[in-house]
Amino acid sequence: MAATQSRLIESLRDRYRAGMPVRVLFVCLGNICRSPAADGIMHALVEEKDGRGLWQIDSAGTGNYHIGDLPDKRMRIHARRRGYELTHRCRQVREADFDDFDIIIGMDDMNLRDLRRLAPTPEAGEKIMPMSAFFGIATRYDYVPDPYYEGAEGFELVLDLLQSATANLYYLVTDRR
Ligand code: 4NP
Repeated sequence: MAATQSRLIESLRDRYRAGMPVRVLFVCLGNICRSPAADGIMHALVEEKDGRGLWQIDSAGTGNYHIGDLPDKRMRIHARRRGYELTHRCRQVREADFDDFDIIIGMDDMNLRDLRRLAPTPEAGEKIMPMSAFFGIATRYDYVPDPYYEGAEGFELVLDLLQSATANLYYLVTDRR
């Protein structure tokens, strides 16, 4: 992990130890497949493990094609099989998100580039991290691949990557598995 990324994680650990909310925003292109799934998985994870209401989790898209929509039906079905109900309503990333969140996690390189362009200040830009930094499973991917034009395996792969990454993020911040 790069030095700025380690500093960012350390700042989240400080917040958590101080009893302050840890505010996480997951970002993809459409906000109907990858990021609402990450959002739903992380919500379920902190609800199960934490219960102190210290986490604020949301997701957004860099694009504006699906604003107000529920997650893609295929993603909802695959997620439900793993016990996750995805109820997020699609929204677009906005500049205020850089104030409202402590870490902004992009799913792929295009998301990261778009986020860097949106960041209002260099300090705000330092809140951006790739989801792949948290992958804990062996994979040939160094990003979360867009499943939109893929079949069932694409959605399953995304869920595998997201379950691993959210669990690792939680562990890095709390020291608890
Ligand atoms: P997501 O997938 O970025 O994981 O939500 C996509 C969903 C929709 C589109 C692209 C990607 N689209 O072009 O409509």
